[in-house]
Amino acid sequence: MLNIGIAGCGSIARQRHASEYARNEAARIAGFFDLNAGRAQALADSSIGAVSVCVANKSHADYAIAALNAGKHVLCEKPMAISLSECEAMTQAAQKNGRRLLIGQNQRLAPAHAYAKRILASGEMGRVLSFQSVFGHKGPESWSVDQSADTWFFKKEFAAFGSMADLGIHKIDLLLYLVGKEPESVYASLMTLDKTFPDGRPIEVDDNSVVMLRFAGGPAGTVTTSWTHYGEECNSTVLYCEKGIVKMYADPRYALQIVYADGVRANYELPAMQTNDDAQQTGSGVIDTFLEGITSGCPTILDAPDILRSMRVVFACLDSASSGRPVSIL
Ligand SMILES: NC(=O)c1ccc[n+]([C@@H]2O[C@H](COP(=O)([O-])OP(=O)(O)OC[C@H]3O[C@@H](n4cnc5c(N)ncnc54)[C@H](O)[C@@H]3O)[C@@H](O)[C@H]2O)c1
Repeated sequence: MLNIGIAGCGSIARQRHASEYARNEAARIAGFFDLNAGRAQALADSSIGAVSVCVANKSHADYAIAALNAGKHVLCEKPMAISLSECEAMTQAAQKNGRRLLIGQNQRLAPAHAYAKRILASGEMGRVLSFQSVFGHKGPESWSVDQSADTWFFKKEFAAFGSMADLGIHKIDLLLYLVGKEPESVYASLMTLDKTFPDGRPIEVDDNSVVMLRFAGGPAGTVTTSWTHYGEECNSTVLYCEKGIVKMYADPRYALQIVYADGVRANYELPAMQTNDDAQQTGSGVIDTFLEGITSGCPTILDAPDILRSMRVVFACLDSASSGRPVSIL
């Protein structure tokens, strides 16, 4: 039985981490720590073997590195950290201490994405040629434990990023995972179109973004993110391949649809993906993957070095948006 500490007790800790640890017999939650002196105790407590880092983005690296240096395994929420050097330092700390570091990129585990990965790997669809991926919802102020437009998600000091990195990391990481090629370049535009603080000032980060992503050897497409999709969440990815189209979470009824080049369709009814709109969150599989990785010592699909590749793309998007030019990644 592994004793778990959870740092940061907001929405993601409550809705996913705490409930998924509670359902896994290999783990027992030994402590919750939030913005107070308790956090230092958590990392020093020798009875705790692993830590979930669920704090604001700014503090991911501090907590993860402190926990790894104290000999704990770490599951850190996305986005991994707020700079490339922090992401690298986290990965190195895991390696140096011989501990596991996983990042909570739950979309890799979503049933339609996992199924699509197997179909693509079989060669049945041929090469991916182009894609479009969209992640939009009504904004983090209605999800965060604060339930306020004064949320840290809107402040550069605590969030560092806006919708592009908050939501885009999910889709960029998913595309890297599904396409299976090296990302080559990005051309990104970030906008703040609507969100304001309670006093009416525009928020300090983007609430919408459009990213054009190219992979080595060809595949190219767009990732669109939005915190201003009022009314309904959109969380879909469509891959246009040589032998047809793979649609994931693009239809409310069929989580996965394959449209072959001759027009024949295969519709798959699979479990839904977790969304911020869910009143009842389903299991993401992230906690089970973390605990299985610790117990077995085997690699997992959420290991930090692989997610670091996706974060490089996010940082390239930020560079592109500030320079107004495409940015090469290779
Ligand atoms: N995997 C996903 O799909 C997903 C979904 C939502 C949030 N997240 C990530 O989870 C993290 C937390 O988001 P949330 O939605 O739970 O936010 P939240 O605002 O609901 O909760 C954050 C909690 O962390 C605490 N906190 C903040 N900074 C801290 C610090 N330095 N030390 C200790 N406690 C601190 C706050 O007091 C609050 O209780 C973010 O990085 C976010 O991007 C991931």
